[in-house]
Amino acid sequence: MARVFSGMQPTGDLHLGNYLGALKHFIPYQEKDDCYFCVVDLHALTVPGDPEALRKKSLELAMLYVAAGVDPNKATLFLQSNNSAHAEAAWLMQCVAKFGELGRMTQFKDKGQGSESVTTGLFTYPVLMAVDILLYNTDEVPVGEDQKQHLELARNLAERFNRQYEEIFTIPEPRIPDTGARIMGLDNPEKKMSKSAASPANYVMLLEDEKTIMKKFKRAVTDSDTEIRFDPEQKAGISNLLSIMSVVTGKSIPALIEEYQGRGYGHLKVDTGEAVIEALRPIQQRYQALAKSNEIEAILTQGAIKAREATSETLAKMKHAMGL
Ligand code: ADP
Ligand code: NA
Repeated sequence: MARVFSGMQPTGDLHLGNYLGALKHFIPYQEKDDCYFCVVDLHALTVPGDPEALRKKSLELAMLYVAAGVDPNKATLFLQSNNSAHAEAAWLMQCVAKFGELGRMTQFKDKGQGSESVTTGLFTYPVLMAVDILLYNTDEVPVGEDQKQHLELARNLAERFNRQYEEIFTIPEPRIPDTGARIMGLDNPEKKMSKSAASPANYVMLLEDEKTIMKKFKRAVTDSDTEIRFDPEQKAGISNLLSIMSVVTGKSIPALIEEYQGRGYGHLKVDTGEAVIEALRPIQQRYQALAKSNEIEAILTQGAIKAREATSETLAKMKHAMGL
């Protein structure tokens, strides 16, 4: 049985990229593996925001995990800040990580944009992410492609710690899906779908209403030719629609190309929109039911107990190895 860990930030509503690139792939693991799924609320503090909104978003994200299929009887679901081992281990690991390697993180360069006034938390966040994973002796981390570099850092830090102090950490493997690992913006298929995009036409939210979802797909930016072909370089918009359709329906991309060839882009857009609406409907229904109950609090309380149990030994070993 492998140990699986993954986390998501409660910084806004989840979008289709988060779901198709990450969350959807968490679900099958819980049938056979020992899974820890986390709302990484400490990460959300790297960019200043409203405290009440963060508390609310954290619970909403936890409910979305459950609505999407995470079963609290099979997997451990918890809030990162409810297990103080994360923050403590992050300090210890910051004394192993190098300034230079953190400066090379592309996400920091994108979000920080060289500004002197970004928080130091934004800079050291990949170290916190590394210990999130390492504290659980994680074997596998299901994530989208944008997390590849952070995973590489986690592996490097684990190896360095093991060499410099004691062999404590398992070296985790990223699990990036073949299709859907990088869902692109609907209004700009050259860039990944992101909740920090300038326009809401960029993304589809998991809890968005059906009419809005359809409108966004109908207006999805494609190209001026008519051929349906999978070519993310030359035909980013069409390739993105094919990827989305493939992940939500389970049909292969070649099969979809055959099905839509010669039928015009309009059909592909509408059918992709419909397939997404169908896939999200049960998630939205379960979410609405959960939001009316207070089930999530009990789930998170249980989860925090299990998370603390899972990490206490590794944290103690880490401290001892470092002379504390
Ligand atoms: P975001 O990147 O939207 O701020 P997170 O950092 O919390 O969200 O990412 C949660 C998960 O969603 C990660 O595994 C990440 O790789 C994945 N993800 C984010 N955006 C996309 C996307 N456009 N396509 C595929 N996966 C994505
Ligand atoms: Na991300």
